[in-house]
Amino acid sequence: MKEALVIQGLDGKKTLSGSINVNGAKNAVLQAFAMSLLFKDELVLKNVPEIEDVKNMVEIFKSLGVSVVRKSKGVYAIKVLNKISTVLPEEISKKFRASIVLTGPILSRFGSVSFPHPGGCVIGSRPIDIFLNGFESLSAKIKESEKGYTINSDGKLKGTKIFLRIQSVTGLQTLMMAGVLAKGKTIIKNAPLEPETKNLADFMNLCGAKIKGAGTSTIEITGTGPLAAKGKVFNTPPDRIEAGSFLILGAVAAERLEINNCNPGDFESLIETLKYCGVNIEVLKNKVLVTNKKGGVYRSADIKTHEYPGFPTDLQAPMTVFLTQAEGEALIFETIFEGRLNYMSELVRMGADIRLCDPHRAIVRGPTPLRGREVESPDIRAGLAFIIAVIIANGESIIHNVHYIDRGYEKIEERLRSLGLNIKRVEITA
Ligand code: EPZ
Repeated sequence: MKEALVIQGLDGKKTLSGSINVNGAKNAVLQAFAMSLLFKDELVLKNVPEIEDVKNMVEIFKSLGVSVVRKSKGVYAIKVLNKISTVLPEEISKKFRASIVLTGPILSRFGSVSFPHPGGCVIGSRPIDIFLNGFESLSAKIKESEKGYTINSDGKLKGTKIFLRIQSVTGLQTLMMAGVLAKGKTIIKNAPLEPETKNLADFMNLCGAKIKGAGTSTIEITGTGPLAAKGKVFNTPPDRIEAGSFLILGAVAAERLEINNCNPGDFESLIETLKYCGVNIEVLKNKVLVTNKKGGVYRSADIKTHEYPGFPTDLQAPMTVFLTQAEGEALIFETIFEGRLNYMSELVRMGADIRLCDPHRAIVRGPTPLRGREVESPDIRAGLAFIIAVIIANGESIIHNVHYIDRGYEKIEERLRSLGLNIKRVEITA
């Protein structure tokens, strides 16, 4: 059954107010599920966001024969029984790109893994050469068919030196986890620096792994046996992308918004950019506070997405919406994905002044009023950007394909309603 969000726009007024709690990070917890396959005892994950991608991951685990018990809200206990299937189910694995992270732990622990050609998505072709070349460097053998890939390591993967041609975040995380059970040392160079990777490595080191250099561009993994939690619990770090999305929302639509349970140090690039644009932000230990002076107009700023700690590609769309309300002209340069500007045509239909220069660059001019309308959410992050846009707009809007937004944001309408927004979820009859 298809659902949509119906939202009454604020017509440029900044009247939302209150506080919003940030959930556990989608792009940390999906990798933590994969990490659990390296453990010989039960691993408990906490602060797990109740989002669609977690439900998808649980479904894959059940089809593999891995025991997953949801102990309470946000708490999952995972136990790998001695034999599991090493074939990722095609339909569910194609639903979300992150399923590919499972291949590293499964291959290194059970000696083989089969998985479908990953579904591309609207933001780009999403090739997997970094993963395949990395597994081959670890002495695995790859067989490709029209259904997908079967990879065998006949015994143990052998540690090796890998230089990441492209700084793939999940490519690094997958090969790092494969290295944990490989024989000997694996050195990965040109590693991207996302905080979720260091968080994963630090926890594995607490459980018997020997990983040096996480958080730097060279990571060295010395192979050990399966890890042991021995009661230690993985606490999912707060979602820096969710926190950043809410900070942008606060800047354009709230009188005062407090964003709680976050690590401001994880999204400094956004905070510094918004401050440069004139947004009034107060940074505290695990919260940020944004307040709006009456009548102030923000100034524009060029945005160039970059691996951490640069401006996150996952905040490019919400930031573009902010820039439609700022005074001046900005260049948006999306350096990571070739298909991540496609959503802009919907913003233009709402009245934004955006000109696409090429698949990676666009010019945004502001401020322009936005008109409410029906829009289709093409992916998780553009979906959240559309929510921000229709909140700024005048009149009623309907956002279709809410399931994309649900993949990354838990109970989004309840949390926004608590700030004073007139928003409801409706069923769309065919
Ligand atoms: C992770 O995706 C995140 N997903 C993405 O968040 C995020 O946008 C991205 O990193 C960049 O920060 C998760 O962590 C689950 P990449 P990932 O591999 O690892 C190319 C969201 O909305 N590439 O770093 O899949 C690729 O095409 C999602 O939460 C290859 O060429 O991204 C892209 O141009 C979207 N070959 C670039 O690398 C490969 O084998 C970076 O992609 C792999 C990637």
